[in-house]
Amino acid sequence: MLERISLSQFLIEAQREGKLDANLRLLIEVVARAAKALAVTIGKGSFAGIHGEAGSHNIQGEAQKKLDVIANELLLQANAWGGHLAAMASEEEETICLIPERYPRGGYLLLFDPLDGSSNIDVNISVGTIFSVLQNPRPEGCPTEADFLQPGKQQVAAGYAIYGPTAQLVLSFGHGVHEFTLDREFGAWFLSKPTITIPEETAEFAINASNRRHWFPPVTRYIDELLAGKEGPRGRDFNMRWVGSMVADMHRILTRGGIFLYPVDRKTQAKGGKLRLLYEANPMAFLVEQAGGMGTDGERRLLEIVPERLHQRVGVVLGSKAEVERVAQYHREMR
Ligand code: AHG
Ligand code: MN
Ligand code: MN
Ligand code: MN
Repeated sequence: MLERISLSQFLIEAQREGKLDANLRLLIEVVARAAKALAVTIGKGSFAGIHGEAGSHNIQGEAQKKLDVIANELLLQANAWGGHLAAMASEEEETICLIPERYPRGGYLLLFDPLDGSSNIDVNISVGTIFSVLQNPRPEGCPTEADFLQPGKQQVAAGYAIYGPTAQLVLSFGHGVHEFTLDREFGAWFLSKPTITIPEETAEFAINASNRRHWFPPVTRYIDELLAGKEGPRGRDFNMRWVGSMVADMHRILTRGGIFLYPVDRKTQAKGGKLRLLYEANPMAFLVEQAGGMGTDGERRLLEIVPERLHQRVGVVLGSKAEVERVAQYHREMR
């Protein structure tokens, strides 16, 4: 049997090759341990008391699910004591969370969507956790929200855990995208795909088609051409998938290609879009670019966008380069 490589071994060897430092390695290991705990808890379903509403709302105006709160607390507590972080930001926290005074502060900032795809929890459809790592720009001072408002190209690492039929961890620290699978009996993550690349072409797209009447013309044109299939201008048939968990749709796209669209439309325009820039769009765009794909807000490269607010929303088009580029071309042509 092939010698399996654990996440710890993979990261220690990468550190030895100078691809990441000890504190970033520790950070990733802590997030991976929290994701393992979440995978075990989610696997227990309603018996773990994780279903249903928490009875509270988050800064996004969303009714929080119990698992949103559980995952958020788990990640905040797991990352407080290690000495690798200066502060954290979460979808479920109104503002940043400083590392408690009693612990040493490190050089990184961690951002996360603790539980992505909350609407799928109670119906046993894959959900996930998304994380992003930035350098703390002002090690000497006390971190502020402004320190988190860095464009996505400043990320030093990003990844997600997907809690599906198997639990998997997909991450990058700037040297390609690597997938690990949880061996539940052994209780450890093992390398399952050493380097992931997204095919440039695809025949699969992901969009919430119920929003069609709200889309702006470039998106409507792009999707209608896909729906026209081989009789249409694209000359070939396309398939559609929409899970409703960004992590699940993006894992499929990273694995076999595709294009994911959550564009700004007339319904979400006032809020800037649906998905959040700092802990959904940016980490996914980092991974997609590391895998040879492309990520835009419809037209602009996502990783160039300078955030103005912690929970800023943005249009998202991610995946196979040829298709993402076509959508950007239609935006330019139809301005
Ligand atoms: P979250 O559960 O973290 O709030 O994110 C949900 C997001 C994303 O995961 C998914 O792609 C999108 O919402 C689905 O939106 P619709 O329900 O409008 O399809
Ligand atoms: Mn949410
Ligand atoms: Mn999310
Ligand atoms: Mn979430």
